[in-house]
Amino acid sequence: MKNTLKGFGAALCVALPLFAQTPARAADQALVQRGAYLAKVGDCVACHTAPKGKPFAGGLPMTTPMGQIYTTNITPDPQTGIGGYTEEDFARAMREGVAKDGHNLYPAMPYPSYAKVNDDDMKALYAYFMSGVAPVQQANREPDIKWPLNMRWPLKFWNMVFLDKGVYQDKPGKDVAWNRGAYLIQGLGHCGSCHTPRGVAFQEKALDESGSAFLTGGVLDGWFAANLTGEQNVGLGRWNDQDLQAFLKTGANRHASAFGSMTSVINNSTQGMNDTDIAAMSTYLKSLPPSGGNGAPPYKYDPQATKVSLNRPANDAGARVYTAYCMHCHGVDGRGFTPMLAPLSGNPNVLEKDPSSLINVTLNGTEDLVIGGIPAPYPMPKYAPVLNDQQIADVLTFVRAGWNNGAPAVTADDVAKLRKSTHAAR
Ligand code: HEC
Ligand code: HEC
Ligand code: HEC
Repeated sequence: MKNTLKGFGAALCVALPLFAQTPARAADQALVQRGAYLAKVGDCVACHTAPKGKPFAGGLPMTTPMGQIYTTNITPDPQTGIGGYTEEDFARAMREGVAKDGHNLYPAMPYPSYAKVNDDDMKALYAYFMSGVAPVQQANREPDIKWPLNMRWPLKFWNMVFLDKGVYQDKPGKDVAWNRGAYLIQGLGHCGSCHTPRGVAFQEKALDESGSAFLTGGVLDGWFAANLTGEQNVGLGRWNDQDLQAFLKTGANRHASAFGSMTSVINNSTQGMNDTDIAAMSTYLKSLPPSGGNGAPPYKYDPQATKVSLNRPANDAGARVYTAYCMHCHGVDGRGFTPMLAPLSGNPNVLEKDPSSLINVTLNGTEDLVIGGIPAPYPMPKYAPVLNDQQIADVLTFVRAGWNNGAPAVTADDVAKLRKSTHAAR
C-alpha cells in the first residue's frame, strides 16, 4: 500500500507539472502569437530594425526637425534592450512616450497613436516582446541633436498640449467593422503618422476623423503620403472597397501601386493582416468624407485628351523623355498594365498638388514590394543617374498635364531640392 502510494506520488510528481503547465503554457503561447500579430499591425519591425540589422535591435536613423535620431533596441536583452521593462513600463513607453528610466521619447516613436491601444492588446504585445523575440545585445546610439535642442524635458510640455491620453472608445451608432477599422487605423496602424499633415511642432494636426485634416496627406522623409479621405481626385473617392483591400493586401490595384515609404508598410504589416481586419480598415477609410484637394470635378479618362497629349509637337521635351524612358512600362495611353505596372492617368499620386512623391520615385525608383515572398517583377527604375533635373521636371510636367490629369507643372528647382535631400547622385 505504502509502496503503491509512493509510486503514485512519484508518478504524480512527474505528471503534475505536465498537467499543471500545459494549458497555461498553451495560453501563454496563444498570447505571444496574438502579440506577434499585433506587432505586425503596429509595424514595429520597420522602424526598430536597421538596414541588414537584427530584427528589433534598433539603430535605424530617423530624421526629425531637430536632427537625426536612432531607433532603440526593443529586444528583451536586459542590458541594451527592454528586458528589464515590466508590463507597466512597457505600456507607459507605448502610450505616454516615457522610457523606463523616465526620459521622454521623441514623438518619432508614434506613441500618440499607440496611446489608443487597449489593455488586452498591450498585454499580448508585452508577452510577445518578452517571450517571442530573440534578445540581441546591441547598444543604443545617441541622437545627433546638438545642445540645447537635445534636451528632452520640453517634450513634457509637448505631451501636455498634443498627447491625447485614453484608449480607443467604440463610437456608439457605428457598427463593429467601423469601430474595429477606426481602432486599427488610429491606433496600432498609426497611419496618420505619415498620412496626416503635421503642424509647426511636428504634431499631427488631427488624431481622428473629428479633425478635417485627418489623413488628408502629408510629406515625411521626402514622400508625400496620399490623401486617404473620400476626395475624388487625390483621395480614395474613386476606389471601391475591393480596390482598397487589394492595395492593402498586395500593394497594387487598377488605380495605383505602392512605392516609397508605403512599400515597407505593405511588406511588413498590412499584407500579413487577416481579411476581417483589412475589411474593417477599408470600411472605416471609405466612411471618411472628402477633405483636401482643390474641388475640381472627379477625374475622367478622356481618349481625346490622350490623343492630344501623344500628338504633341516633337519639340515637347517632356513627351520626348516619356517616349524614350517611360512609355514601354506606363503605356502610350498612360494606363500601364495593372496591377503589375502602375497607371499614370488618373492616379491620385499624379493628381496631387505636392509633387514630392513623383519626383522622389523618378529619382530613386522603388524598394522591392515583396508579396508572399515574391518580389515585384518590374519595379520602377531609378533615373537619378540618367536624367538631369530639367529632364525630370519636363517628363513629370508632361505626365501631370497628360491624359486629362490637369495637375500643375514641376520645376527643375523642385527636383534639385529632392535630389539633394535624398542624396540621389547624378
Ligand atoms: C515610426 C517609427 C517607429 C515605429 C513604427 C515604432 N517605434 Fe518604437 N521607437 C521609435 C523611436 C525613434 C524610439 C526612440 C525615441 C527616442 O530615443 O526618443 C522608439 C522607442 C521605443 C521604446 C522605448 C525604448 C527605449 O529604450 O527607447 C519602446 C518600448 C518602443 N519604441 C516600442 C515599440 C513597439 C512595441 C512598436 C510597435 C507596436 C514600435 N515601438 C513602433 C520609433 C518607432
Ligand atoms: C511610413 C509612412 C506611411 C505609413 C505609416 C502609412 N503609409 Fe500609406 N502611404 C505612404 C505613402 C508615402 C504613400 C504614397 C505612395 C503610394 O501610393 O504607395 C501611401 C499610400 C497609401 C495608399 C494609396 C493611396 C493612393 O492614392 O495611391 C493607401 C490606401 C494607404 N497608403 C493606406 C495606408 C494605411 C491604411 C496605413 C496604416 C495601416 C498606412 N497607409 C500607413 C506612407 C505611409
Ligand atoms: C521597368 C518599368 C518602368 C519604367 C521604365 C518606368 N516605370 Fe514608373 N513605375 C513602374 C512600376 C512597376 C511602378 C509602381 C511602383 C513599383 O512597384 O515599383 C511605377 C511607378 C511610377 C510612379 C508612381 C505612381 C504609382 O502610383 O505607383 C510614377 C510617377 C512613375 N512610375 C513615373 C515614371 C516615369 C516618369 C518614368 C520614366 C522616366 C517611369 N516611371 C519609368 C515601372 C516603370
